[in-house]
Amino acid sequence: MARVRLHHLQAAKNEGRKFAMLTAYDTMMAGIFDSCGIEVLLVGDSAANTVMGYSSTLPITMEEMVVFAKSVTSGARRALVVCDLPFGSYEVSPEQAVASAVKLMKEGGVHAVKLEGGQYFVPHVRALVAAGVPVMAHIGFTPQSEHALGGYRVQGRGEAGQGLVADARALEAAGAFAVLMEMVPTEAALLVDESLSVPTVGIGAGGATTGQVLVWQDMLGLGSGKSARFVKKYADLRTVVAGAVSAYHSEVLDGSFPATEHGFGQ
Ligand code: KIV
Ligand code: NA
Repeated sequence: MARVRLHHLQAAKNEGRKFAMLTAYDTMMAGIFDSCGIEVLLVGDSAANTVMGYSSTLPITMEEMVVFAKSVTSGARRALVVCDLPFGSYEVSPEQAVASAVKLMKEGGVHAVKLEGGQYFVPHVRALVAAGVPVMAHIGFTPQSEHALGGYRVQGRGEAGQGLVADARALEAAGAFAVLMEMVPTEAALLVDESLSVPTVGIGAGGATTGQVLVWQDMLGLGSGKSARFVKKYADLRTVVAGAVSAYHSEVLDGSFPATEHGFGQ
């Protein structure tokens, strides 16, 4: 299968087709998702939560993102791999953004980066695109700005929907190949999608976007907590894993594992 490229995502938008995006942080899950035909894998800074156990995405570093990026790109043969620029790795200047993105592409092997923020980041996006780095913009609820936004809240309600459109248009004009929207009203996402030529991606943004994205541990039911409204649980991996691990545990304790066939003969 040929690699998914930006023009395939653009064709989906042009032709009214959808594509699916899913987070990945390690080679085995990336390989499974890739073989299922998921078009875009996101090395999300959500690894800070899902893999590292932090309560926000703020602490994850460039060095850590490079490790996750390498792991995912080694497992993905067909998917386009997008990697988040972590908090603190791009805000200072367009130069800082380019240096960080280059590191993720050279060392992590990713094909594109994603950054959070609106019109303020137009110069950063321009510089990245000029350097040959494809950029996905992330607007609406932006978890790296959790404290500035006052927590996890829907963005772009009412009049603020026009602000989303203005941000999205500016980022598109700066060269972003796609605009991702998180936790925005369905109507606002539709408005943004209709205002852009490039594809949109949504998480908690309704069904009008070209693409959808979810965090894999959420959609496969690996987490223990209550999940957000926008998550659909397609499996209950937590129960599957706990059942198998408990069976292993009791078989080791009662001596039924290992059986004869798990051992070597003379
Ligand atoms: O890091 C992440 O998982 C993300 C998605 C939720 C869009 O940015
Ligand atoms: Na992210």
